[in-house]
Amino acid sequence: MTSLYDINYQLRAHKRDRFIEFIKSLLLTPFILSTGPKSSDSLTDKNRYLEILGCIEELIDEHMRCRDAGQLDLAHLTRLVPSVGHFYTRLPLKEAFDIINSKRSLIGRRFVPPSFNDIRYLLNEAQIIAIAPQVELVTFDGDMTLYADGKDFPEDSELVGLIITLLSHNIKVAIVTAAGYPGNAKRYEERLSGLLSGFKNSKLDHKLFDNFYVFGGECNYLFKYNSKTLHLEYIPEEVYQPESIRVWSTDEERIQELLNVAESHLKTRVKELGLENRVSILHKSRAVGCNPIAPYSLTREQLDELALSTQTVLNEHQMDRSKSKNKRLRTSNGAPSSPALPIIPFCAFNGGSDVWVDIGNKLIGVKILREWFGTPGNKTLHVGDQFLSTGNDIATRTACCTIWITSPEETQEMLEQLTSMLKNKKSPKKGKK
Ligand code: IMP
Ligand code: MG
Repeated sequence: MTSLYDINYQLRAHKRDRFIEFIKSLLLTPFILSTGPKSSDSLTDKNRYLEILGCIEELIDEHMRCRDAGQLDLAHLTRLVPSVGHFYTRLPLKEAFDIINSKRSLIGRRFVPPSFNDIRYLLNEAQIIAIAPQVELVTFDGDMTLYADGKDFPEDSELVGLIITLLSHNIKVAIVTAAGYPGNAKRYEERLSGLLSGFKNSKLDHKLFDNFYVFGGECNYLFKYNSKTLHLEYIPEEVYQPESIRVWSTDEERIQELLNVAESHLKTRVKELGLENRVSILHKSRAVGCNPIAPYSLTREQLDELALSTQTVLNEHQMDRSKSKNKRLRTSNGAPSSPALPIIPFCAFNGGSDVWVDIGNKLIGVKILREWFGTPGNKTLHVGDQFLSTGNDIATRTACCTIWITSPEETQEMLEQLTSMLKNKKSPKKGKK
């Protein structure tokens, strides 16, 4: 029988991260023990937390071993948290706990148990410690990760210097953003103006900045910075897209068909939600967007409703389409006469104040970059703000290590830590312009 709790949980699944919830529930035990009538000392309290974190580290290690052996089903963690993602590195949670505890007073708290944000910080910290000695590629989301929603990269942002520091360690840096301006380098240069003027004014060897890339429209428009011209240069799709992507990325008819389904669904839902005078629908070559018309704004619930219903409709559309094609193509013995239609990957997401459907997703974007640079997932880090099932950064979880931040200030905090660990590893390259 389905309980009210189950129903509640299922309906809120898009607002939860099951792995974080799992850790949170385990850490309730040391919290409760520390608040008991018999007072304990802080060392005992700390050891209780560490014991549980040690067990979680072991579960992750086993999950990685099972994955390598192609037997993920056998991992204990798969049974405990079926939706858990990939782990590209071990996560030193016990080591990270000391740092997070000094910032967020976990052990000393008696009334407020470890929260979602405490665990998110803990996982981020452990990921930074693990990847710092080996990182070769860092990809960043744009809006809300490097700059405020819809705004440009500010010139006075501390992130300018931090990204330059990453590049000075010969780490490749890419911004992988949903913002889609087809082939329009100038528009991306405007959005990234603060960072690009930081490059221009830097005293470091400018060749380092040739390792800076921008992937717009999730995975549709790739640009490379040219340190001689000081501009972003467009790289045509055929240069970097493998055949497995070309089969759908050149199928303009099916791409437009999918976008038309998305547009018509969004229009219907907008009407049903009574929002027709408050939003405008924009159809681009590789995306459809639903944007509030000022002074109106949409609530998080309205945005999630639009994103989730669009995901469902587009998945159903593609399934129906491929079933009907297979029926038509059956040979006399009933077997399909040609391979099924390739699915067109898409990303329908809540962008914080708008809803978008993009062709492709950031998993494809990060994978293309990884393959191009020959960088494995355990040396690649994606930093983003949208890791719920209605977000567009979650797709990168199956491509590389990830860090989940909620603001450019948090990105700064994470990068300060990463760059200080890099400094201990090796000194940055200095040079003339
Ligand atoms: P990101 O956070 O950098 O991935 O950017 C997401 C935001 O980019 C969305 O919320 C939109 O406001 C904006 N955007 C502009 N053009 C597009 C597009 O073509 N597709 C998706 N988002 C877009
Ligand atoms: Mg974002």
